[in-house]
Amino acid sequence: MPSAPNESGTMSETYVHGYHLRENERLQDQAGALVDLLHADTTYPDGSRVLEAGCGVGAQTVTLAQRSPGARFTSVDISADSIAEARRRVDRAGLTNVEFRQADIFALPFNPESFDHVFVCFVLEHLSRPVEALAILKRLLRPGGTITVIEGDHGSTYFYPDSPAAHAAIQCQVTMQREAGGNALIGRQVYPLLVEAGFEAVSVSPRMVYVDASRPALVDGFTRKTFTAMIEGIRESALAAGLIEPARFDAGVRDLYRTTEADGVFCYTFFKGVGKKGRGA
Ligand SMILES: C[S@@+](CC[C@H](N)C(=O)[O-])C[C@H]1O[C@@H](n2cnc3c(N)ncnc32)[C@H](O)[C@@H]1O
Repeated sequence: MPSAPNESGTMSETYVHGYHLRENERLQDQAGALVDLLHADTTYPDGSRVLEAGCGVGAQTVTLAQRSPGARFTSVDISADSIAEARRRVDRAGLTNVEFRQADIFALPFNPESFDHVFVCFVLEHLSRPVEALAILKRLLRPGGTITVIEGDHGSTYFYPDSPAAHAAIQCQVTMQREAGGNALIGRQVYPLLVEAGFEAVSVSPRMVYVDASRPALVDGFTRKTFTAMIEGIRESALAAGLIEPARFDAGVRDLYRTTEADGVFCYTFFKGVGKKGRGA
């Protein structure tokens, strides 16, 4: 079982997806398949200062920095190993507008109002106190600055052929993440979380990934290498936690792969929210 969140309420020691090479590759595949869906409407003006909180191995960082070459990015993560990998990727991409810092979102080494924009992707789902994290990030924004938050929601997963075993395997991930202090169903809460943290003009758009055999890049990049790989990756922990019988978990994973066949369909929805820090805030 994952242990409880640490004192700062973060998931640094219990980060449910782990920090392994396979996880890095999964995040890269995920980023590649989803770039347009998630990023097409995100660009930052020349000269703006952008904080990327929880950059991980830089899967989004490269896209952000390429799409806004005149903006200056500061990308932070609590994991030194992830930062090192992110730095390598940014260097390999020939980007010079990103600087990295190892830091905890709950103890960021920046002055208030240091940034024009904040970007947070797939991070709140791992935090036990997401509203507090958003409020901290809001303090770092200048009045009128924006925050962009992207989160998934495993409850939005449906597929053909349907499979109770596949739903049970997915539920293991939801349960483990909840027991680690996070929330794999957080996508549906992006709007209320941003409002509760005090952001104004909050607007959330659902981004549905629809996959069938006519979209082979998504069949491979999303259904296989992102979603099913993620569920497959928790097998040992889910079994060790006694959440499911091995045969049922394996049948669930098999059925998720089954959705990648010629007649299969897979759907998942991400939620992208944008909010503004009020001028009087
Ligand atoms: C699923 S990864 C997402 C990485 C990246 N944003 C992306 O979309 O690929 C979540 C990241 O949040 C980081 N993280 C978790 N808690 C954190 C905290 N308290 N402060 C900073 N980073 C944190 C983890 O180390 C991990 O790299």
